[in-house]
Amino acid sequence: MLSPRLKALAMEVPVGARLADIGTDHGLVPVYLAKNHIVTKVIATDISEGSLQKARELIKAERLDDIIETRLGPGLEVIEPGEVDTIIIAGMGGQLMTQILCESMDVIKACTKLILQPMNAQQQIRRWLVDQGYKIYRECLVKDGKYIYEIIVAKEGFQQKVDDIQYEIGFRLNEDPLFKEFIGLKISKTEAIIRELQKQNTENARKRKEHLLEKLNKYKEAYRCFVQ
Ligand SMILES: C[S@@+](CC[C@H](N)C(=O)[O-])C[C@H]1O[C@@H](n2cnc3c(N)ncnc32)[C@H](O)[C@@H]1O
Repeated sequence: MLSPRLKALAMEVPVGARLADIGTDHGLVPVYLAKNHIVTKVIATDISEGSLQKARELIKAERLDDIIETRLGPGLEVIEPGEVDTIIIAGMGGQLMTQILCESMDVIKACTKLILQPMNAQQQIRRWLVDQGYKIYRECLVKDGKYIYEIIVAKEGFQQKVDDIQYEIGFRLNEDPLFKEFIGLKISKTEAIIRELQKQNTENARKRKEHLLEKLNKYKEAYRCFVQ
């Protein structure tokens, strides 16, 4: 059984896809997709031999070696351009994810779909995608345990942008049923940081507070527009 987060990632993979799952770890998503005849081929990669070994054991136990191949190595360096048409990178920090994409432009340019689930720095990855000529055409929120995860699906295209705050709150997340909770959490976290900064009497704290107050107003504006 896949967790809600992994199931939501799997649901974004198109039928017939040739998929690369970068940083596969346990290999659960590739196995689910192969078992359910959704993919024609998967390359499941990881930088860690230990992680990849877990995936190999699962693939062998499920007798899916003919569909899922494992490769050891960093990011997309182990994939040749054109080998896959869909890429999942999930469960890593947004900065690492951006670096992985940046370093293998030839591989991602040959793909029709990027399915990304950064654990943090989501704004950084959205900005990078838009700057590189990617359109974020689907986004969703998934509640798994006490966390809300953001899934970003992109393909080459022009992304219209109204305000920089969209890098933080997403381009499509306002359509998600969890948006109210998601933006509410952002508001309360930002207010808590501002309260802490108010106790500090430095120039740095003042500047940071000003910046966060601006962001807070934008979050509140989004809440008013999309939730109320
Ligand atoms: C937290 S796990 C996430 C596993 C799975 N993708 C998920 O979403 O549940 C992160 C995995 O990424 C792998 N990893 C970290 N840096 C990597 C890199 N540069 N290239 C490939 N895999 C990497 C780690 O070894 C680990 O197995």
